Amino acid sequence: MRALAILGSTGSIGVSTLEVVQAHPSRLSVQALAAGRNRDLLLVQCEAFRPRCVSVGTQEDAEWLRASLSYQPELHWGPEGLLACALHPEADTVVAAIVGSAGLASTEAALRAGRRVCVANKESLVVGGALMHEAALAGGGELLPVDSEHAALHQLLAGRAPATIREVRITASGGPFRDWSLARIQAATIEEALNHPTWKMGPKITIDSATLMNKGLEVIEASVLFGLRPDQVAVTVHPQSQVHAMVGFHDGSYQLQVCANDMKLPIQYCLLFPDQCPGPVASYSWEDARHWTFEAPDLERFPCLGLAFQALREGGTAPALLNAANEVAVAAFLQGRLGFWDIQACNQEVLARIPATPQGSLAQVLDADLTARRHAEGWVQART
Ligand SMILES: NC(=O)c1ccc[n+]([C@@H]2O[C@H](COP(=O)([O-])OP(=O)(O)OC[C@H]3O[C@@H](n4cnc5c(N)ncnc54)[C@H](OP(=O)(O)O)[C@@H]3O)[C@@H](O)[C@H]2O)c1
Repeated sequence: MRALAILGSTGSIGVSTLEVVQAHPSRLSVQALAAGRNRDLLLVQCEAFRPRCVSVGTQEDAEWLRASLSYQPELHWGPEGLLACALHPEADTVVAAIVGSAGLASTEAALRAGRRVCVANKESLVVGGALMHEAALAGGGELLPVDSEHAALHQLLAGRAPATIREVRITASGGPFRDWSLARIQAATIEEALNHPTWKMGPKITIDSATLMNKGLEVIEASVLFGLRPDQVAVTVHPQSQVHAMVGFHDGSYQLQVCANDMKLPIQYCLLFPDQCPGPVASYSWEDARHWTFEAPDLERFPCLGLAFQALREGGTAPALLNAANEVAVAAFLQGRLGFWDIQACNQEVLARIPATPQGSLAQVLDADLTARRHAEGWVQART
């Protein structure tokens, strides 16, 4: 039986994780749940799964939960609450599904404490990849990627000697603007950017999918997770989102991983690894493969993807700077303070103005994150 702490239980990944738990009642239990502001959904989840440890964004909401729940779990709030859930002694597996670099410290702590950590929070790998590896090594933690492309690569690369790998290719749906002209993309509205054609996800990653920054973050994530050079990671646009990743070998051949585009599958893969048993997602239907198409990404219409490659090549804190700028820019876009095209301009500005340094300690990485956030905020304010 795996005992879970789910960080970000009220989000898209968190809710899907709980559906996977319900499909495997004899193999998965919930010991801790952590969320931010959605106390109503957290209350419903607590009553359904009765975790021993619960955390929410604020003390006020923690007190509201204490008064509203029909049982009395340990209640926490804020960043310390996230850590309390991540390190709960009854939980051996942590699902890191907070959005943004707010998930960094809890992911690192869980790895250092020797937990299996199923990482959906790609930002923590982008911002502090080397630190995550170091924490896992020091504490005996196990890092498994929830992102569908990286769960696919985890399967494809298992048992392969690094010297046999020529390149890996992750696929991108292309987002809602895949076939839009540059002029139309530049004027895209919030509603248009939130209208993703194949995946239903939280708002931040949905905007990142429209700019292709999500794919850029995933390129960095793939390099960090599998020890690949920047020139060994490539992106192919595949609008059907059924082939998730491919591995190219030196003999010229490729292997592909294919499955339905449902996040419950990679979530279950990570939770139950190495077992791959029946679950809540139906088997892939080969009828669907008749419609597959593949194309190259267009870096002129989607410059954020190029910026991610640039940051990866630069190394050190460059990915953290880019990620922080992007978090600020996406939040400002969702608040109506920036236009869609300003997101890439903000990212470009921060990468160009703030010099990257070696990644160093967690404190140094968080410092780089804060510097980039301040600069990006100033840039946004100057434009609004
Ligand atoms: N959705 C997908 O299909 C998908 C696929 C691959 C990877 N990912 C990655 O998974 C992560 C989560 O994505 P998502 O789509 O599930 O996002 P989401 O729907 O926006 O959910 C985010 C979750 O994080 C919680 N949260 C945010 N900030 C917090 C904080 N400071 N303290 C505590 N909790 C906080 C939110 O709580 P409240 O809602 O209660 O405020 C919510 O539970 C992201 O890094 C994303 O890139 C997502």
